[in-house]
Amino acid sequence: MKSIEILEVAPRDGFQAVKPFIPTEAKVKLIEELAACGFKRIEIGSFVSPKALPQMSDTPEILKRAKLPSDLRVMALVPNAKGLQLALNAGVKEISWVISVSESHNRSNVNRTVDESFRDFAAAWDGLGRDKPKLRLGLSTCFDCPWEGRVAEDDVIRAVERVIAAAPDVEIGICDTTGRAAPDHVGSLLSRVMPRYASDRVTFAYHGHDTYGLGVANAIEAYRQGVRVIDGAAGGLGGCPFAPGAAGNTASEDLVFAFEHMGVKTGVDFKRLLVAADHVAEVEPSQAGGKLRTVPRKRALSGFGHATQGLPA
Ligand code: COA
Ligand code: ZN
Repeated sequence: MKSIEILEVAPRDGFQAVKPFIPTEAKVKLIEELAACGFKRIEIGSFVSPKALPQMSDTPEILKRAKLPSDLRVMALVPNAKGLQLALNAGVKEISWVISVSESHNRSNVNRTVDESFRDFAAAWDGLGRDKPKLRLGLSTCFDCPWEGRVAEDDVIRAVERVIAAAPDVEIGICDTTGRAAPDHVGSLLSRVMPRYASDRVTFAYHGHDTYGLGVANAIEAYRQGVRVIDGAAGGLGGCPFAPGAAGNTASEDLVFAFEHMGVKTGVDFKRLLVAADHVAEVEPSQAGGKLRTVPRKRALSGFGHATQGLPA
């Protein structure tokens, strides 16, 4: 059976982009609603400087309060050794460490050069000894940088090699941070990366934004190239506050719709997700995919029953 994992990142990449503080209780409720949709993994928040991203400051509280299925994999983003330690202290078993391929975005995002970030990462990871959590290393700006433009494929490949040298057991996130990649670019990069670096120990995930409506097309191309984990955010929420011009993440419901119709199982309850996506988008409608959704998902569902034809109930 063909299958793919859609990894729900709205609680991190989505909520972090919302300016007014979303009350912790509201976040917990939405996260529980998303977890009930059948996602295998959720990126629940991040351990970053509260000055950089005040919206994420309640991640430890959310971890304490949320009642989640016991088999749900909970991932949290960290940008440095301090974040790693705080995440481990909070009981996080899967972390997602972020480094950008382009210098300017890395500087804007984590205030370090790319070299410094790789050195910090290698030292922190080594320092954990044998007792390591599961690791996603998210490589931001694999295609385009808000300041430097198109990113050279050779730079991405060099970054992939540096990740593997520092952490041989890893899921590498290939991220289109600005949503300016197109399928041919995704195919060109991944056709160089996947055959050479994907293995039992090194797997790949694709993380896209939907700035020009190419999020789903890019995800399908990533799937064709062998990627089996795709990030999405319910309601199309999101956008890196340190990447001006980026719109929301590719909507999880669009990804589930597309893959299920292609006969690729996601394990996500589509109808439930449509309802949850509306609730998520409500936290700041102007952020939903960078544009107001003219037809809320729930209404689309009740108005056009055929939208779910052929999908699992
Ligand atoms: N969690 C909480 N606090 C942190 C922290 C973390 N992970 N890392 C650093 N801090 C605190 C330090 O303790 C220090 O506090 P103080 O001023 O009270 O002494 C302060 O932040 C500055 O520390 P420093 O190491 O100099 O950080 P910085 O100012 O160079 O910022 C980052 C670097 C990485 C902490 C910051 O840029 C950041 O959090 N970025 C978030 C990136 C992100 O999440 N982007 C979106 C996802 S891609
Ligand atoms: Zn993102």
